[in-house]
Amino acid sequence: MASSEHAELFLHPDRNLAMELVRATEAAAIRAVPFIGRGDKNAADKAAVDAMRKFLGTVNFDGVVVIGEGEKDEAPMLYNGEHVGNGRGPACDIAVDPIDGTSLTAAGRQNAISMIAVSDRGSMLDASSVFYMDKIVAGPEAVGVVDIRKPIGENLRALAKAKGKPVDEMQIAVLDRPRHAQLIDDIRAAGAGTRLMLDGDVAGGINAARTGTRIDMCVGIGGSPEGVASACAIKALGGLIQGRLVPLTDEERQKGLDAGLRFDHVYEANDLVSSDNTYFVATGVTDGGLVDGVRRQGPVIRTESIVLRGRSGTVRRVIAEHVAEKWLGDFEFGSVNG
Ligand code: FBP
Repeated sequence: MASSEHAELFLHPDRNLAMELVRATEAAAIRAVPFIGRGDKNAADKAAVDAMRKFLGTVNFDGVVVIGEGEKDEAPMLYNGEHVGNGRGPACDIAVDPIDGTSLTAAGRQNAISMIAVSDRGSMLDASSVFYMDKIVAGPEAVGVVDIRKPIGENLRALAKAKGKPVDEMQIAVLDRPRHAQLIDDIRAAGAGTRLMLDGDVAGGINAARTGTRIDMCVGIGGSPEGVASACAIKALGGLIQGRLVPLTDEERQKGLDAGLRFDHVYEANDLVSSDNTYFVATGVTDGGLVDGVRRQGPVIRTESIVLRGRSGTVRRVIAEHVAEKWLGDFEFGSVNG
């Protein structure tokens, strides 16, 4: 192999990376299981963070956490700017959420996932200084048809037409928050139904962009880190994602401006992640519309993951059967045996 080809091979993440990353989300999901329904979201998150960090250390890549658990002084592991991986492979940006849905996990509710998104180094937007983003996510039919600047009713009708279905068959996912009261009223007034989510708008957005799900669009204000991670998945699905940053205070606005963020701007998929070489992996912690949660089947722990690759558009479902004995010992599976 010519040395330039060799260098190229190590410059960008390659297709094997996704299958390596899924080991880290599987580990995080498995380690979170003893905390499902135990009322302690911090303990659940810590178990998942520890496991994800440990497994990421074995992966052949040189990752920099762009979206992580917080600033270095607040988060001991997987903090923004931390280098992860064994440092020997391609240079990447990485977004991690060891559990998207920590409250869901602590309460024993559905739809908690563990996720990682990866792209070429320098390609992910660092939106960490502004927590919230108003987002709209939908499938490929929405591209050039739906626009976050337009009223929701107009977008609904346009998407319904593009999908060839009546508006009253449209289902729109929205986080169930007081801030969305008007949005929810407007969706229903336009004739569509809502699917209110307690948490977890990454899974909601992916389900909106995939074909064959019950969700047509995911809208509303959620985390901006989740917006960037979702963009890595949406690139693979060919769908639409747009976001507008929503600062809650003057201080947050100033921090955002200092970081080069814009509040008059609609962030499109390419603004959120400029590379098409993206990877997104998620493993179910609890059962959900995207993936099943972890379950114990006798000597085996079963996990289900989804693996998306931006460049090829491939969507894989990975069912793994882990030898339970290897995972037991330092924790008990308790009453969650499936
Ligand atoms: P975590 O479990 O990681 O805390 O996030 C859950 C979540 O629902 C995200 O999916 C969503 O983007 C965000 O929180 C919404 O924030 P808030 O709960 O403050 O409305």
